[in-house]
Amino acid sequence: MDKLIVEGRHRLTGEVPTAGSKNAVLPILAASLLTSRPLTLHNAPQLSDVETMRRVLAELGCETSRDDHGTLHAHTPELHATRAGWEHVRKMRGSVCVLGPLLARSGRAEVSLPGGCVFGVRPIDLHLKGFRALGADVRIESGYVVAEAPKDGLRGAEMFLGTAFGSSVLGTANVMMAAVLAKGRTVIHGAACEPEVVDLGRCLRAMGANIEGLGSPRLIIEGVEELGGAEHTVIPDRIEAGTYVIAGAMTGGRVRVSGCRPAHLSVLIERLREAQVPLEVGEDWIETQAYEPRSAAERPRATDVTTHVFPGFPTDLQAQWMSLMTMADGISIITERIYPDRYMHLAELARMGAEVRREGSMAIVRGTERLSGAPVTASDLRASAALVLAGLVAEGETEIHRVYHIDRGYERIEERLAPLGAVIRREQE
Ligand code: EPU
Repeated sequence: MDKLIVEGRHRLTGEVPTAGSKNAVLPILAASLLTSRPLTLHNAPQLSDVETMRRVLAELGCETSRDDHGTLHAHTPELHATRAGWEHVRKMRGSVCVLGPLLARSGRAEVSLPGGCVFGVRPIDLHLKGFRALGADVRIESGYVVAEAPKDGLRGAEMFLGTAFGSSVLGTANVMMAAVLAKGRTVIHGAACEPEVVDLGRCLRAMGANIEGLGSPRLIIEGVEELGGAEHTVIPDRIEAGTYVIAGAMTGGRVRVSGCRPAHLSVLIERLREAQVPLEVGEDWIETQAYEPRSAAERPRATDVTTHVFPGFPTDLQAQWMSLMTMADGISIITERIYPDRYMHLAELARMGAEVRREGSMAIVRGTERLSGAPVTASDLRASAALVLAGLVAEGETEIHRVYHIDRGYERIEERLAPLGAVIRREQE
């Protein structure tokens, strides 16, 4: 297992490009199960989660390869199996989104239930509700979801897939992928509006699907007989981009995050401005401006955030925001409405001297003038990113253990940060 060692107090300066979106490419790869024709995906990020998805797909009959330009090719001439086992689904909940495509193409899908995850219960009841609405028989057997389409195939239907606080990203993706090959019209109310769902929809359209309303909570899908191959460029990863913008904001350097979509990060930009972090924004870049985040006059101002579905503040940036707030002037309140227990980073940040306290789904952060490096343990992907950010500004060295979490969603983070002036290295435990 690897660990990262970060030497703090180096100001970052320079340009960092944004990789393709993890949460867009995972369901898009699953969509390649819907057709016997090849799918070509440009800007596919090189992440361990993508490798896990490739292994899941390989067992089902999908051949994937990556060329020298980072383009992924996925091709499923025929399905070899309809079962995705516990081994992979356990590692990555995203693999649950093979359910919809398998059900649509072969009429049957068996996928291990993902179970709990480190930040709490993550149900998939809405996915199942959607499949049932399309006429599938769905049951739970020995830890697996077993879904079977009627003999004459799935039928379009009108359904509501919203939750108390919004919608489900992968639930929408899964049901959308099942509905594109169903007979007739499907209307999904309460659909997720996240850019990753829109990107999947765009790719499905390029494959021949008939989908209207992408980016709105009402999707209208007219089923088609079959889908073809397509070439698609995956959107930039807004969470990776946001993480590097926060790195610039915390170290006080001029960091340009290029190749991103500022429109996907409008709430982060707005919150950073409220925190008085100097920032410039272009068409496809965001740049923090040089300032003195530790001086009395320029310290970022404590600024509250509440996580919400898109375009609200993303839960996937909550931990990183907390790192920024640990050095802010004043007390800020972070409210986690998507995953109320997503606070594993809190105890680790406290080990570095952060003054943080949890009250139910809220965290109260009292900004401090000094964090100090410490050995800390990464517990999930975004929590790990928050620890790297804290390490960048702490005095001394921070050792982050169990770094494989971060490799799930950030392409070699140390190689992205080092050219900006970060002193960070990877070592084997
Ligand atoms: N929910 C239900 N029922 C369901 C599905 C979800 O009640 O059937 C609830 C969840 O408990 C949660 C909320 O709905 O409170 C949103 O969950 P969602 O289904 O949207 O999450 P997801 O699709 O499983 C994706 C991302 C996560 C990201 C969330 C929220 C992928 C592979 N994962 O998960 O990404 O946090 O959306 O935006 O796309 C990450 O990248 O670190 C990560 C965890």
